[in-house]
Amino acid sequence: MNLEMDSAPMVSEQDEEQKPAPWSRSKKCGIFSLLLFVTLTLVLLIGSEVEKANVRAASSTLYFYETPAVCGVDSTNKAVVTHVNASEASKMGNLVAHCGDCGFCSNYNDINIYNETKETLTKTSTNCATKAFLGGSDAVFDCFKEDVGFTDGCNDCWTENVMCDMKKCVFTCLKMILTGQRNNGGDGELNDCLLCDEKLCGPAFIECAGANRRRSGIVSDIGRDDLNEICTSVDDGWRWDLE
Ligand SMILES: *[C@@H]1O[C@H](CO)[C@@H](O)[C@H](O)[C@H]1NC(C)=O
Ligand SMILES: *[C@@H]1O[C@H](CO)[C@@H](O)[C@H](O)[C@H]1NC(C)=O
Repeated sequence: MNLEMDSAPMVSEQDEEQKPAPWSRSKKCGIFSLLLFVTLTLVLLIGSEVEKANVRAASSTLYFYETPAVCGVDSTNKAVVTHVNASEASKMGNLVAHCGDCGFCSNYNDINIYNETKETLTKTSTNCATKAFLGGSDAVFDCFKEDVGFTDGCNDCWTENVMCDMKKCVFTCLKMILTGQRNNGGDGELNDCLLCDEKLCGPAFIECAGANRRRSGIVSDIGRDDLNEICTSVDDGWRWDLE
């Protein structure tokens, strides 16, 4: 054993100054960027796998589309009322605005927006969702208000939905945005982000909103293989009752 080797400096200070630095600044920067990229990619992959497992474990949301309840329009009082089923609504003389219980989006303004923006609303809301990263829920609310025009109550439901996605589906949805996945493949399967949203955040959203596109009988830009999921009890002409 030679302990002296450890303590004796191998090179003098002068020698060191003359040697070029082992890593130039730009090389260090490149390596740092690469490590950052690899780390972020790993976080994204692991995070989205964890979220995927939560989605698999979540129960079906089909209940919200199979309930016989409907949201009817009481034209005398210009209000919406939940009925246990469509025949009860017609017995009361009320037209059906959408399937399921009434909520904050159960009104002419919001359902009309669903109808008029059916090709673009998913894209617009994905864009508004990205505002949450820097501006939080206030920025999301303002984005929906400006770009979509929901009533404030309905706007709150959409904003809360985005904040839920941020908590439960953020890695899955970031992955979708970064890889440019479409809403679904031709087979009607939802992409992972929309499936995560539907399974983990959909129930709270539907309870808040009452009306979404499927429940309003509107075929949206999110293709569905199962047309049974689209409400068929909507009465033509209910809209004029609320104006
Ligand atoms: C609708 O609900 C009423 C009251 O619960 C019930 O008596 C009736 O059988 C239901 N109708 C249908 C078609 O399910
Ligand atoms: C959507 O718009 C079309 C055409 O403008 C109309 O025929 C249809 O009844 C509307 N549907 C709803 C649910 O508002």
